[in-house]
Order: sequence, then C-alpha cells, then structure tokens
Amino acid sequence: MKLRESGMPEESYWETLFDVELILDRLETDGRLRDVVELGCGYGTFTLPVAQRISGTLRTFDIAADMVERTVRQAAAEKVENIVCEQRDVFSQGFGIAPDSQDACLLFNILHCEEPLRLLNEAARVVHPTGFVHVIHWRYDLATPRGPSMDIRPRPEQIVEWAKQAGLLVASPVLDLPPWHYGIRFHRPAMSAR
Ligand SMILES: C[S@@+](CC[C@H](N)C(=O)[O-])C[C@H]1O[C@@H](n2cnc3c(N)ncnc32)[C@H](O)[C@@H]1O
Repeated sequence: MKLRESGMPEESYWETLFDVELILDRLETDGRLRDVVELGCGYGTFTLPVAQRISGTLRTFDIAADMVERTVRQAAAEKVENIVCEQRDVFSQGFGIAPDSQDACLLFNILHCEEPLRLLNEAARVVHPTGFVHVIHWRYDLATPRGPSMDIRPRPEQIVEWAKQAGLLVASPVLDLPPWHYGIRFHRPAMSAR
C-alpha cells in the first residue's frame, strides 16, 4: 500500500527544497555510522549523499519501481557502490532487515503516513542497541511550498511522543533544517547506559 500523500513532484523541483549537506551535517551523518537503512529512497535525494558519508552499507527501498530504478542508475553513474536498493512495500513486507543490525534508520518526509508508530517500531527494531533513528519532516508553522496536508502533517512534539511509544529516546533538540524542514535524532535506551 502506498503511504498517503507520498507522491513526488518533478525531480528537479523536489531537489530545490532541501539543503542536503546542511541537513546531513546537523543530523551528524558521517563515517561514525556504518550500516544504515532508509525508508523511501524517492529520487535518491538523500540516498547517495548519505552513502558517500557513512563507512558501511546503505540499504534503501521504495514501493515505486521508477524511484528504485532512478536511484540505482544514479548510484551506478556516480560510482557509489555501498548502496543496496530494492523495490519493497514496507507495510506489507516490513523492512526485511535483521533486528539490532543497523547504526541508523532514516525516516525522511514519511511520518505523515497512516501508521507512523508502526514505522517507528520497525525502525527501533532494526537499529542496534546503540543505534539512532533520524527523522526529518516538513515544518508546520509556515507556508511551505510542498508537503502533506496540515491535518496529517506531524508536529515535532507528536513525533517525539510516537518515538517514546516505540521505546526511543530523544538524542537531539528539534533541529532547524532550513528552508522548510525540521529534524530530530532518537536513540535506543541502551545509549543512556554508555
Ligand atoms: C515523500 S517521498 C520521500 C522520499 C525521500 N525520503 C526524500 O525525503 O526525498 C516518500 C517516498 O515513499 C515511497 N513510499 C510510499 N509508500 C511506500 C511503501 N508502502 N513502501 C515503501 N516506500 C513507499 C514513495 O514512493 C516515495 O518515493
């Protein structure tokens, strides 16, 4: 089942809506992260830059065949070899990732879906006990040029509440990701014991 309001505009327009390097810097996405999983590669806007920063493999999937094909083609063109990208419906098939196996799980522009808690539970399951879940979403307090309808668009405090229900703890303040997004890093409770 395709998540509600998860269609994409033209790629060239979509990619003007983010400062990808700033977002990844503020989310502390770097070589300290080894294996990472991303839900919904879309055009690969974040997939390739994340893969180029981490020290392991980026696993990513999308329900849309054209998004998967585009991301695979782009990775090959740019000779980024640490990406595994496959077509997958995460709602009917799950992530297909072993529990406790990933350093981070990325949920970018996706938690306005019908069952956000289910995605956060799956994210919490696949990251290892010292792993992170990184979320970004559209701001809700200004007239953004895109983004899901305001009645289904989650506020940061809503995402924090869902994440707590999934057994995750807040690992960052709400991060400003201009021009149109905010982000939050979460971690599994085992981090607190370190
Ligand atoms: C709004 S886009 C975000 C893409 C990317 N994360 C980004 O921020 O650029 C949401 C993506 O999720 C994909 N998607 C929707 N439902 C899905 C499902 N059930 N399983 C996997 N991917 C899905 C869509 O095809 C779309 O590419």
